[in-house]
Amino acid sequence: MSHTWWRGAAIYQVYLRSFADGNGDGVGDLAGLRARLTYLKDLGIDAIWLTPWYPSPMADGGYDVADYRDIEPVFGTLEEAEKFISEAHELGIKIIIDVVPNHSSTESAWFKEALTDRAARDRFWFSDEPLNDWQSIFGGSAWTQVPDGQWYLHLFAPEQPDLNWNNPEVHQEFEDVLRFWLERGVDGVRIDSAALLIKSDTGYEDLDEVHDVYRRWREVTDEYDERILIGEVWLPDQERFARYLRPDELHTAFNFDFLSCPWDPAELRRVIDLTLATHTPVGAPPTWVLSNHDVTRPVTRYGRADTTFAHGGRLHGTPSDLELGYQRARAAALLAMALPGSLYVYQGEELGLPEVEDLADELRQDPMYARSGGTNPGRDGCRVPLPWSGEEPPFGFGAGTPWLPQPDSWRKLTVEAQRTDLGSMLNLYRTALGLRRELLGDGTLTWAQWAQPGDGVLAFTRDSGLTCVTNLGPEPVPLPAGEVLLASGPLEGGLLPSDTTVWLTGVEA
Ligand code: NOJ
Repeated sequence: MSHTWWRGAAIYQVYLRSFADGNGDGVGDLAGLRARLTYLKDLGIDAIWLTPWYPSPMADGGYDVADYRDIEPVFGTLEEAEKFISEAHELGIKIIIDVVPNHSSTESAWFKEALTDRAARDRFWFSDEPLNDWQSIFGGSAWTQVPDGQWYLHLFAPEQPDLNWNNPEVHQEFEDVLRFWLERGVDGVRIDSAALLIKSDTGYEDLDEVHDVYRRWREVTDEYDERILIGEVWLPDQERFARYLRPDELHTAFNFDFLSCPWDPAELRRVIDLTLATHTPVGAPPTWVLSNHDVTRPVTRYGRADTTFAHGGRLHGTPSDLELGYQRARAAALLAMALPGSLYVYQGEELGLPEVEDLADELRQDPMYARSGGTNPGRDGCRVPLPWSGEEPPFGFGAGTPWLPQPDSWRKLTVEAQRTDLGSMLNLYRTALGLRRELLGDGTLTWAQWAQPGDGVLAFTRDSGLTCVTNLGPEPVPLPAGEVLLASGPLEGGLLPSDTTVWLTGVEA
């Protein structure tokens, strides 16, 4: 792969707790992941992004980091992590880790020191009284009182105290943490809550000084070969978003507009055009994301009457036609994979897993659920451990009882069951990722003149000559003349059915 491997890469997101359990304690771990590396190699991905693997009380699934330079014992050891990085590299797979700079954990050495020594509080936001009425993103006040009467700021859960980026020691610490992992061979860093670091009287979202942090991180990253920075930047304003992708800042950022976009031809066309227009001037490749560990699984989302995604109540419990959702998720996957730029695949997406919406309330672990007073179900439903094999739970996930229960109906969705089924989602992903590697990825697209979103059809041709056509309308539409390489569903003679994507070559412009 070239030094710009990341521009067109297919990146697989591993949510470690739920990927595969190697030691039988019911929680996914590095041993489980290492044992399944060849599965990912066969799937055809270029890189793995792992959600936080650091020691953590797991108040927010590991996004409450107690020590940025070690591995959570439930997941394994630092030595195992190093072995994992080199084994992945031997298979030609790059490794991206998650760094969480906005907040740490109440169990971190810094916070513990701050609790016992008031002079050591400047690394966080301590104050005699709440400085504002900010609400936590998970619900409730963003300020919590400590026993001596002072308050500290946490934009997320109380167990996640925000770091004070006005303090040079915090800058120094994270540059050091970056080096720690870059020295160990990681190829990239995904930056959690990247736009929230700087706080002022006016707010905390996307303040200009945050860019100084990433310019410095870019300098550090550029000291190493072919390493990248990826931002988790949720911003409605595309111009502000693009500022993170200037040539001396982050390499890429997640495209949440695409992820949140309804299954609607005009809206999708608008978001795709806007994405391309935003990225071109800064020279950064777009990313195409259909799901992650924070959002409702696409099969469930696309089966609802309202196919948008919004964090609030997540449309939880809204009826979903899962068969329709499955068909659309297949079509969406081929559309996303054909677009120019890099691609993210969240574990289980390649199996067509639906959201698990009927988890018992007492099993829900996401702080969003408790802090919203139960009005938001939280994100556990997209984090249920993967089904690998067999006829009943734990479906080969590991020897123990999985930390969240898997539905019995997943027997049809195991890797084992799908491997031998040529029409399965798994085989669609595998074939498509293989073709994508040859014919798609970084580059540009040209919209076909003969198809219009108003007719329900999105069609474009890529630099390699591959044409991607998606029919989002209610009726089948004529297929253009050309050779069919792959389709997300059966074609009806010369027609492309509703909610289906096809890849062709040799189509006249
Ligand atoms: C974004 C992460 O993706 C999410 O899972 C986490 O809860 C928040 N940031 C806070 O770290």
